[in-house]
Amino acid sequence: MFGLISLIRLHFIPKLVSRADLVKQYGRWAVVTGGTAGIGKAYAEELASRGINIILISRSKEKLEAVAKDIAETYKVETAVIVADFSKGREVYSSIKEALRDQDIGILVNNVGVFYSYPEYFTRLSEDKVWEIVNVNIAAANMMVHIVLPGMVQRKRGAIVNVSSGSCCKPTPQMAAYSASKFLLAQYIPEWFWVWGMQILNSALRRDAVSHRIY
Ligand SMILES: NC(=O)c1ccc[n+]([C@@H]2O[C@H](COP(=O)([O-])OP(=O)(O)OC[C@H]3O[C@@H](n4cnc5c(N)ncnc54)[C@H](OP(=O)(O)O)[C@@H]3O)[C@@H](O)[C@H]2O)c1
Repeated sequence: MFGLISLIRLHFIPKLVSRADLVKQYGRWAVVTGGTAGIGKAYAEELASRGINIILISRSKEKLEAVAKDIAETYKVETAVIVADFSKGREVYSSIKEALRDQDIGILVNNVGVFYSYPEYFTRLSEDKVWEIVNVNIAAANMMVHIVLPGMVQRKRGAIVNVSSGSCCKPTPQMAAYSASKFLLAQYIPEWFWVWGMQILNSALRRDAVSHRIY
């Protein structure tokens, strides 16, 4: 029943009313991690179609520049790119922080995420794969929030979108590390910011805006 209500509220009702002005509501720029392919690219394009300038972050400079150019030309917005490999862990964030300094980041889409080459028992995962899951699926989202949230708090507006997965919601055989990393995105971070956001922003940063959905 709750699912049906959510479906109507999130997908049907918005189609009946005029689209929200995201620039006014959140700010001029959005950052999308892993924004050059798949779901991240779709987020970047949708936000650009709403007039938001886009900053893409991923590993391949060529892909970043091609997608940024395409988005800029198609939607007549500004774009920028940051080359970073989140699997490298802590070392990548100082340059990301520097690149985002003084930017009016209104929306952060924590999209980047990796899975295994195929479903596998946890004990058979390589150490490298375990660290990749931790660094890309968990640390990246936490650190990106750590970088952009102070500016959102200061401006009293902002939205953080965490791209989770259906596998977060139930124990999934041979996907333990992935499922757990997505559970954290779906549960831990939104709950944390629900408390923090309400206290600091006096409800300007709403729970709905920090879920894995976008409004
Ligand atoms: N696809 C699904 O069926 C599905 C289902 C549920 C949830 N999800 C979640 O949705 C999100 C996006 O999935 P997707 O399938 O759309 O991804 P995708 O098509 O594989 O795209 C991955 C994006 O992330 C970038 N990327 C990959 N590894 C990176 C790293 N180490 N550092 C920086 N950037 C990196 C890639 O660009 P570069 O290669 O240039 O770095 C690319 O832009 C993930 O969080 C995933 O867990 C996906």
